[in-house]
Amino acid sequence: MNEPLHVWLDADPGFDDYMAWALLEADPRFVVDGVGVVAGNAPLERTLSNALRIKALHGLATPVYAGCDRPLAQAQVTAQDVLGENAMKSVGRTLPAAQAALSPGHAVDALIAHVRAHPQQVVLLAIGPLTNVATAFMRAPELPGLLKCLVLMGGSTDRGNATAVAEFNIAADPEAAQCVFDAGIEVLMFGLNACRQVEVGPEHVALLRHDGGEQALLFADLLQAYTELIPGRQRMAVFDPTPVAWLANPAWFGLEPARVDVELAGRLTRGMTVCEFRVPRRAQANALVAMQADGDAVMDWAMRTLRGFLARRV
Ligand code: BDR
Ligand code: CA
Repeated sequence: MNEPLHVWLDADPGFDDYMAWALLEADPRFVVDGVGVVAGNAPLERTLSNALRIKALHGLATPVYAGCDRPLAQAQVTAQDVLGENAMKSVGRTLPAAQAALSPGHAVDALIAHVRAHPQQVVLLAIGPLTNVATAFMRAPELPGLLKCLVLMGGSTDRGNATAVAEFNIAADPEAAQCVFDAGIEVLMFGLNACRQVEVGPEHVALLRHDGGEQALLFADLLQAYTELIPGRQRMAVFDPTPVAWLANPAWFGLEPARVDVELAGRLTRGMTVCEFRVPRRAQANALVAMQADGDAVMDWAMRTLRGFLARRV
């Protein structure tokens, strides 16, 4: 077997962040070196509490660090109106209250120190607003050049979700996102346009209910609530786990080079990722943007991997 990929996860859990993290912990091709938590789906206090509950529930050794509690420039927005007060809606069971210990130090400092100590070895996977990542890049401008790669869930080449054109992670801190796209590293962008090709629905919930066991049933209750977020639909796009699937098997995806910039003004368009695909003719590319995803293959792998993980005894 090849050497495992070392991943630093920056997240704002959030149910789909939980699913992404679980997949990383479950698949032996990955080692999660650390998790930096950021405010996003909910205020930091809640995203951190969710992260520490997940760490405790699964007996994870991965260090968890508290990161930035507000965006770089704008007022804080959360997704609690859609995802509920704790960003983790459930049709029944909820994450147990027991929390694991928080690792000392700020997530930004921990990320900088870790990448400096392991040059060209760390995949930085950002699945929340980019506040921690941008702060790290501003404090340590050499950092982007020391990463193995930078992968993010965020943005869109077409429709938004936070607004008609802006995706939540970018809209929650547009200045941070622009800083990341300007960092001089090729950003691997998994936006809504790609993630919407990967769907979860009642058939996936049923698999977990069939497995039974405390962890699978808890996850099934959370997953079902997630599939029911859009009234009357019972299916939902899979956001944060999608770039994890790309790390597991890039052949499931088609990516295209583009110049991505974030709209920072715009009465109606602030937070939009403007993607110029006419590169290098009209602009210098700064990203590879996911355009196609094999949703069935991704979900087959995701469910197989998750079911194994949820059956583990802690
Ligand atoms: C992104 O926003 C959050 O609500 C999800 O966790 C995901 O990272 C999708 O737009
Ligand atoms: Ca997220």
